[in-house]
Amino acid sequence: MKIAVILNGHPRSFEIKPNEYLLETLRKYNMTSVKNGCDGSTCGVCTVLIDGKPMLSCSVLAARVDGKEITTVEGLQEEVDHISNYFGDEGADQCGFCNTGLALTIHALQKEIKNPTDEQIKDYVVGNLCRCSGYHAQFKAIKRYLEAQK
Ligand code: FES
Ligand code: FES
Repeated sequence: MKIAVILNGHPRSFEIKPNEYLLETLRKYNMTSVKNGCDGSTCGVCTVLIDGKPMLSCSVLAARVDGKEITTVEGLQEEVDHISNYFGDEGADQCGFCNTGLALTIHALQKEIKNPTDEQIKDYVVGNLCRCSGYHAQFKAIKRYLEAQK
């Protein structure tokens, strides 16, 4: 079957199987920033934005996104590079496997909550796990990045 989406601002059509998850579709069509970390809805590295909301692409059937807007890191490269600089400065950037999903979540947080409290920041990114860096450095980087955008 075929679905039509807006991917990173451009109309695209994808050939999919009825039981295919969006993660598989995106990787099949070369959106390799979208990672598979657990295939079980627990790690957050497969996060993409669907109509602006962060979602786990490993748990969304591709057929469900027909007609929707999908954003991956490939569509937000400049902003993600900017966010990455803050991660580098705080020593929060280790293997980098979690970075793309987390960057999309930070992008959505910034759009959705103006002046978030520390608790709101932590709650928003709670689904993006990192096995290397610990969360304190990441939290400091996110906070500094959000403050610099005001
Ligand atoms: S691969 Fe989707 S949450 Fe881990
Ligand atoms: S930096 Fe390695 S998983 Fe987060």
